[in-house]
Amino acid sequence: MCCCPPTAMAVPFPNFGSYEWLLPFADVKHVFQDLPLRTEGTVLTVVVGCGTSDLSRELHTHLGLPQVVSIDNDEEVVSHMKAQHEDLKAALSFHQADLTAPCSHVVADGAADLVVDKSTLDCLLCSEGAPKLVPSAWVHNIYRMLRVGGCYVVISFHQKEFLMSLLSLAFSIESAIDLQRDVGPDVLALVLRKGTEELPELQKALDAWNVQMPKDLMSETRREALEADWLQRLRPGASALPLSEAYEVMISSSEKREYSLSDFEQDVADHGGTAGTTELTLQEALHFLEQMQ
Ligand SMILES: C[S@@+](CC[C@H](N)C(=O)[O-])C[C@H]1O[C@@H](n2cnc3c(N)ncnc32)[C@H](O)[C@@H]1O
Repeated sequence: MCCCPPTAMAVPFPNFGSYEWLLPFADVKHVFQDLPLRTEGTVLTVVVGCGTSDLSRELHTHLGLPQVVSIDNDEEVVSHMKAQHEDLKAALSFHQADLTAPCSHVVADGAADLVVDKSTLDCLLCSEGAPKLVPSAWVHNIYRMLRVGGCYVVISFHQKEFLMSLLSLAFSIESAIDLQRDVGPDVLALVLRKGTEELPELQKALDAWNVQMPKDLMSETRREALEADWLQRLRPGASALPLSEAYEVMISSSEKREYSLSDFEQDVADHGGTAGTTELTLQEALHFLEQMQ
């Protein structure tokens, strides 16, 4: 299950009814309506990280997509979704699988016409070890399951440039659509397509992206800005800032979308070796950022 919902997102699966991350289908359906979707019987749609969202059902009942395979790594979620969709089991199936591992037993290579991801890549990018470890395997797996010319629709709260830096390694970018929300920052729908040419170096390129990501965490400019902001905020006679304020200064607003205050507090405790640390000195803050690179 996901670890860091962005602000203004409620707790997932509150009572095991259905729960929508980011936006309900009604607010994203135009993204799909603008696609040239085929609806013959063999057309396969895959919903990756379905959670307890109504998306799979809506793609079938509202857009007429004939076969929707939904995957989640959470066993409880999958049993719940199977029970909820008993009435549509000829068209909708639910499977437990880890999408960062090859799962051709669930979706064969090149079988999917459309893969839909609503906030699941977000979840992976927030998970422990990410962004270093996880996304490469994820992207590779989506690429594997799509047919040539098939579409991958990603609905995400991450920044467009950040997503494109990863996803354009495997897919061509068809469109990027801003989706407004009543609560919380806007989110983005990226429509991507698997091209015809072979990408023999894809795995290497994805791995290189992984290595690149955290590099400029402690650039000279960032250090200077941090020092200036820190000194301005220090109260007279104090040598440290409370953790919540340190988080404000140390973590940029785009990073905050993927890195919550509670994750930060946990990392500070882990790295400093002191559970219950409530404040940081400037030296400790710089040391922390250097360690996190
Ligand atoms: C943020 S929720 C989004 C749920 C749903 N797509 C929605 O829009 O409401 C992410 C979902 O992805 C699932 N998930 C996370 N990592 C996964 C993985 N490696 N393989 C399969 N599912 C995963 C989680 O269990 C969770 O249900």
